[in-house]
Amino acid sequence: MIHTRIRSLVSALLRPTSIPLGMKRRMSQRSLTGLLAEMVGLSSAQSYALLEELSSGSFRNELDKQIEQIPGINLDPKSFTVKGWHAGLYCIIRAAQPGVVVETGVASGISTAFILRALHENQKGKLYSIDLPPIVDGNGNVPGNMNWILPDGLEPGCAVPLSLRHRWELIISCSEKALPPLLQRLGQIDIFLHDSEHSYEHMMWEYEMAWPYIKTGGILLSDDVSLNTAMIDFCRRHRHKYNEFEAKMGAVRKEF
Ligand SMILES: C[S@@+](CC[C@H](N)C(=O)[O-])C[C@H]1O[C@@H](n2cnc3c(N)ncnc32)[C@H](O)[C@@H]1O
Repeated sequence: MIHTRIRSLVSALLRPTSIPLGMKRRMSQRSLTGLLAEMVGLSSAQSYALLEELSSGSFRNELDKQIEQIPGINLDPKSFTVKGWHAGLYCIIRAAQPGVVVETGVASGISTAFILRALHENQKGKLYSIDLPPIVDGNGNVPGNMNWILPDGLEPGCAVPLSLRHRWELIISCSEKALPPLLQRLGQIDIFLHDSEHSYEHMMWEYEMAWPYIKTGGILLSDDVSLNTAMIDFCRRHRHKYNEFEAKMGAVRKEF
């Protein structure tokens, strides 16, 4: 009798829909190497080799030089560490060897530069990015949930080194308008990264929009997942395993 009760309690706790949110979030936290193992099957040694490749190559110098040339930009290149989510993104793209990557939200283009550098090292693949620079109102305020603005006159992606841009198509538009026709045009994609507007509704909309186009074995990534429960809810609904890195980047591998 008591065994049956314990068993049903354990199986209720293990059912994805019944795990309390805080616990689910804690259980889903991954180290960088843990995340890379989950997403792309890398051993710790393979992960460290890719991180070493990233930090020892010419990329950081090129990125620093490009950023130095941008007047008025408020970016500290040192904040993009080899342990941070941009480095995780680089390793995922290196290991997954995608043909097609789509991202929403470019701003100055740091995630874009990391993705393009990984594609450059892979010697294959193309990145499609969508970004709508925010319109600042008369009081200098940015409407909605936009948490990034570029100083006046700067273009989205201005930090992307010129040598990496040949694998890149940038679409200046809001994702609500540009994402559906882009996905239709591409047919199937390998990796989707959300980093545009971080409201629950918009994040969920982008995940749902991109999901049918992601190949089985492909990956859905999202920045700033801890702002709300959109990605956790999405994973529950689609019965997929949710992974979180540094309470910031969410990642799910499409299994079916
Ligand atoms: C957080 S920043 C992107 C940062 C970038 N991914 C990185 O890691 O360097 C968000 C960007 O998304 C853009 N954005 C916000 N809402 C958008 C929407 N609905 N469609 C397209 N872009 C949007 C903003 O203008 C801003 O440039």
